[in-house]
Amino acid sequence: MKLAFIGTGYVGLVTGVMMSHIGHEITCIDIDQEKINSLNNGKSPIYEANLDEYISKQIKSRTLQFNSNFDEHLRKQDAIFITVGTPSSQEGNADLSHVYNSLDHILEFIDDKCIIIIKSTVPPGTTKDIQNYIRKKGKNNHVANNPEFLREGNAVYDFLNPDRIVIGAESSEAKTTLEKIYTPMTQQGITLVTTDFTTSELIKYAANTFLANKIAFINEMADICENINANVKDLSYGLGLDQRIGGAFLNAGPGFGGSCFPKDILALQSLTNNLETRSLILDAVINANSQRPASILKRIEKLAGGLNTKTVAVLGLTYKAGTDDLRSSPALEMIKLLKEQGAIIQAYDPMGRDNARNHMQNDEIKSSAIDACRGADITLILTEWDEFQNLNFDAIKQVLHGVKLIDLRNFLDQNKVIDAGLEYYTIGLNLSSCNAYN
Ligand code: UGA
Repeated sequence: MKLAFIGTGYVGLVTGVMMSHIGHEITCIDIDQEKINSLNNGKSPIYEANLDEYISKQIKSRTLQFNSNFDEHLRKQDAIFITVGTPSSQEGNADLSHVYNSLDHILEFIDDKCIIIIKSTVPPGTTKDIQNYIRKKGKNNHVANNPEFLREGNAVYDFLNPDRIVIGAESSEAKTTLEKIYTPMTQQGITLVTTDFTTSELIKYAANTFLANKIAFINEMADICENINANVKDLSYGLGLDQRIGGAFLNAGPGFGGSCFPKDILALQSLTNNLETRSLILDAVINANSQRPASILKRIEKLAGGLNTKTVAVLGLTYKAGTDDLRSSPALEMIKLLKEQGAIIQAYDPMGRDNARNHMQNDEIKSSAIDACRGADITLILTEWDEFQNLNFDAIKQVLHGVKLIDLRNFLDQNKVIDAGLEYYTIGLNLSSCNAYN
């Protein structure tokens, strides 16, 4: 089928490229000419495992093209996916201006047969509003909602192995088109959930909010573990084996970040503000996560014996491993708080250094972990990059000033760290047992 994607951010780019891989003829449109030039040269503007290879392969097979114009080419499409950003507005609502701008552009060219599919994350009620907007413009295009569940860093894998595909369609035309688009997946046994617009939109918000809940919950359990000398890693394992709970998203850490969870929970909370139902759980999760860095800071301060003029090595800046994205990264929030206490920052991240320059001073960003650790009084691991697991801790020890290392992702091999003569601290673990080898 001929499909177009409006917006080559994370969702649009990965979905567009992978849709061409499963057999569709794809055009990805973005108003950013520089991005389009780079994509036409087979180079993704974002870091995503394996994506460049798929882009080059699909361009060569002539089933994928990128362009920056809304033009007559759109008239040939069977369906158009809107995949532009819906950032938080100042009030926490989702800002839908990019969605409506895209609609205005495409409506100029398409005829009534083309199905418009909203893949951007939009608040419940939006797809219905969009359908009304299209009718008001005198057009009869059928509309559908089709949320995405891709994780940054695993997006190619997630596209090929989804747990389910959700479709909000209220006409047989829209439903049939979506079913046809996803036939290569459903033939492999992947479940298609078909529902109305609003439920489909809410499934997306509910999924992200539920996962964020799990993280906020396990972080709270980690605090309890620290207070009563229990071990949050064993706790997660023991909890997660219960199939009703499941083991995913039970890793305690510095709080959740990224461009989705924080934004989507705020948007859902903002939606409930206009309803008679109060969002007690959403409020609690937002609160818990926003207080997480400050509560961790207290522990760092205690271990460091005060932070004023102390040099802190920060390993990891992205909001999680496998991406170069720093949006709402807990590491940035932690750095802000550390600096407010007078700490001097020496940070390193394997993929996020370029993007870090928009948030930090150049001299705070180092080009290797060992450079970040040189002369540091205390070392923090903020992102769970594999590279940090494989660090030469003996060499690190040689350049450090202080030997305390706090693993805020609980993922290093503690024996390796301790054997190198460092003091290993984590969150949610019985600290004295970690350093039992000392
Ligand atoms: C999330 C969802 O997982 C995707 O399904 C969804 O499509 C996407 O949002 C979106 O709405 O676009 P993503 O933001 O890429 O994906 O990242 P996650 O892997 O979900 O991690 C989010 C945050 O939670 C990160 O800061 C991560 O470090 C943190 N996290 C995750 C934990 O602290 N503990 C965990 O056990 C898991």
